[in-house]
Amino acid sequence: MPKAASDRVNNEADAPVPPSGWVVYPAVPSVSRNLQNVMSFIPPTLPGAEIDQMLERTESIPGWLNVSERSILYTLGRSTLGPVLELGCFKGKSTSCFLLARARSQFRTTHVVVDVFKDHLDAGRGDFENLFRENVKPFVGATDLRVLRMSTFDAGPALEKIAVEIGGFSGVFVDADHSYPSVLKDGLLAHQLVLPGGWIAFHDAMRWEGSTSVLPACLDIPELNKYRFVGLHSSILLIQKPGAGESFKSWKDHPTIKAFSVWGKTPMASAIEMGTGLIMGSKLGKFFTKARQIVQRANASNS
Ligand SMILES: C[S@@+](CC[C@H](N)C(=O)[O-])C[C@H]1O[C@@H](n2cnc3c(N)ncnc32)[C@H](O)[C@@H]1O
Repeated sequence: MPKAASDRVNNEADAPVPPSGWVVYPAVPSVSRNLQNVMSFIPPTLPGAEIDQMLERTESIPGWLNVSERSILYTLGRSTLGPVLELGCFKGKSTSCFLLARARSQFRTTHVVVDVFKDHLDAGRGDFENLFRENVKPFVGATDLRVLRMSTFDAGPALEKIAVEIGGFSGVFVDADHSYPSVLKDGLLAHQLVLPGGWIAFHDAMRWEGSTSVLPACLDIPELNKYRFVGLHSSILLIQKPGAGESFKSWKDHPTIKAFSVWGKTPMASAIEMGTGLIMGSKLGKFFTKARQIVQRANASNS
């Protein structure tokens, strides 16, 4: 059994060896309440003012990440020492959260993004690679940012080559095509590239407001069976690959995962999904999104 964070701090001699590529934050007060007792090394809870600053700086970049999701990506960027890979970066909102965090932590590392940068289903037709580059430019700092313009379906060999060069990825954020077959493929790719002890985060895996193909696809990847549940941050599912000699209770057996999985299969979830899709682009949808952002922002500042 992995030790609870509080045990670890009280008895450092017995502390589990941190997985590769993570910073260990020893102070209990900085331990995130949400993550306590589920990890032996834990992303810190960052000061509200710092989170607010990050939210403000990344606010105007187009994308679908809400306040909690941007906050966890930033926190991961602040606490992951090694390289991070993003599958699907759109116009750079998630990338900016990571890059800003790297600069703030003064980590000199590599950050790799993969995207086709063309003709987005929701955002419309056209090429957006230049927009991506413009949006992330203020945040790159000392990070070695590598941009792979290609489908994740073709990116395996190039990513494997980079992984050998840089020593592997400590974390992978999966946020490309959310269809079932794509997530199956991207999840497996993430597993192949992430180092033992590293994390994988899946966007849009969990939603009470409707069903999603992301969670069912993740549940159907046997290679992820041995990963452990780290946390849920709005729709982002965060899991961790076992380190050498470690074995965890599977994230797939976590009660919350089971509850989401059952809910996602109900007709009610499908109906809500359809309804949400219809009002998303309407004025009412935009009003709810804004209201939700305000509440989440207040919560993030208070935590
Ligand atoms: C949801 S958006 C990513 C948003 C971004 N992570 C953010 O939070 O700002 C999905 C992105 O994945 C890209 N994409 C979709 N299918 C892809 C594929 N098979 N290979 C590479 N990129 C893909 C799209 O072009 C789009 O930019």
